[in-house]
Amino acid sequence: MSVRFELNGEPCGFAGDPLTPLVDILRRERFLTGTKAVCREGFCGACTVHVDGEARMSCLLPIASVAGRRVLTIEGLAPPGAPHPLQLAFEAADVVQCGMCFPGMVMSLSAAFRDRPPESRAEVKTAMTGNICRCTGYERIVDAVLAGLAAERASARESGDV
Ligand code: FES
Ligand code: FES
Repeated sequence: MSVRFELNGEPCGFAGDPLTPLVDILRRERFLTGTKAVCREGFCGACTVHVDGEARMSCLLPIASVAGRRVLTIEGLAPPGAPHPLQLAFEAADVVQCGMCFPGMVMSLSAAFRDRPPESRAEVKTAMTGNICRCTGYERIVDAVLAGLAAERASARESGDV
């Protein structure tokens, strides 16, 4: 079976088993290794990408399910050399240890708060519910998320986007 979809803004095609998990196409065929395959069962969130703007776990998505849809990975989230504010905030807060969880966290949070800031710390925690980190304490990650999203809003205000 042949499947066509959009990957990080470019047309993309796959020919083969329609049940192949999207995460395997991304990593093995497209070499987009920022998307991690950890549990492969929908528990850890490390494989999170955007599909038509929504955060989805790519280990659970057969490639056929993204036919005609827009897939965005961590590599496509921000232009090369200009990291997303959440990536900058995680780095500044020094919360990344092994790093396996962070691309998925950034993808979940950037989708959840694309159009509006979180109203509370609890809302950030809820948005991170599907993303497990085995290295770092979650409170410091939430601090970094709030700082990153605040920086994103300030930058958007400066550029007149909000
Ligand atoms: S690898 Fe997909 S949820 Fe863990
Ligand atoms: S930094 Fe290692 S799992 Fe999160």
